[in-house]
Amino acid sequence: MKGSVSSPSPPDGEGVLLALEGVRLAFGGVSALAGVSFALYPGEVVALIGPNGAGKTSVFNCICGFYKPQQGTIRWRGEAITGLPPHRLARLGIGRSFQNIELFRTMTCLDNLLLGRHLHIRAGLGSTLLALPAWRRDEVAQRLVIEKIMDLLDLQAFRHQRVGMLPYGIQKLVEVARALAGEPKLLLLDEPTAGMTAEEKDEMMVRLLGLRQELGLTMLVVEHDLRVVSQLAERILVLDYGRLIADGPPTEVQHHPEVVRAYLGQTKLTTEAAL
Ligand SMILES: Nc1ncnc2c1ncn2[C@@H]1O[C@H](COP(=O)(O)OP(=O)(O)OP(=O)(O)O)[C@@H](O)[C@H]1O
Ligand SMILES: [Mg+2]
Repeated sequence: MKGSVSSPSPPDGEGVLLALEGVRLAFGGVSALAGVSFALYPGEVVALIGPNGAGKTSVFNCICGFYKPQQGTIRWRGEAITGLPPHRLARLGIGRSFQNIELFRTMTCLDNLLLGRHLHIRAGLGSTLLALPAWRRDEVAQRLVIEKIMDLLDLQAFRHQRVGMLPYGIQKLVEVARALAGEPKLLLLDEPTAGMTAEEKDEMMVRLLGLRQELGLTMLVVEHDLRVVSQLAERILVLDYGRLIADGPPTEVQHHPEVVRAYLGQTKLTTEAAL
């Protein structure tokens, strides 16, 4: 039933990592989130799906402090974090990738990741850009983190290449790597496979599953392709017109009547593959 969906109970002994409680966000007369509540538990990979304009990116923007909800509470390990600025949330352990690639196209892959890490650790783009060379010399430890991420995502071959010159699929991977640069505990990925071929999507999926295994990350992933979702996530949250209409395992959610209704007439969701 609309507005009454809540996340299942956590596995024994584990607390909630992130919780949204009645989050409302409106832009003028447009309601983007109409009282959204759900919880994420440590180590879960959860998909966030919904038709275009359903509010998926708005959920991310509220969690990351880019937007401040007009009502409701967001909690991190039980503590209210609603309205904290993005750099404070990043320092707590929340990292994100963007729906549209937000990298510095004329900078190398390596410098984008170093900058990503520096931005997470300290606030302020101007001071970061000015301090980058010195910071890079001084902080060997920071560099080791970046090297590990590049190893994990097989990006070493591209380290000195300008991001704008890289193939689209690699740029999407660099975007994920940049989000990882702050060593998040919770990784929010906004359509990491958008615009990719089926083969590229499979590769990204394998990489994301590898990250989860290697780093023990909790992930919330916006994804339209149900084939990808069913292989990646153990739980699916479905948004429609700013409301959470379903929350459960892929097999249940696919047949949920409200989900089927929400997607009628939508072409972006790939439904050929049965979950
Ligand atoms: N900065 C903004 N200013 C005005 N309206 C906005 C803004 N951001 C989002 N909205 C509106 O809020 C609603 C939810 O948008 P949102 O981008 O969160 O949807 P989405 O589920 O991510 O969609 P998509 O699948 O197209 O990425 C939409 O009606 C959108 O037009
Ligand atoms: Mg979006």
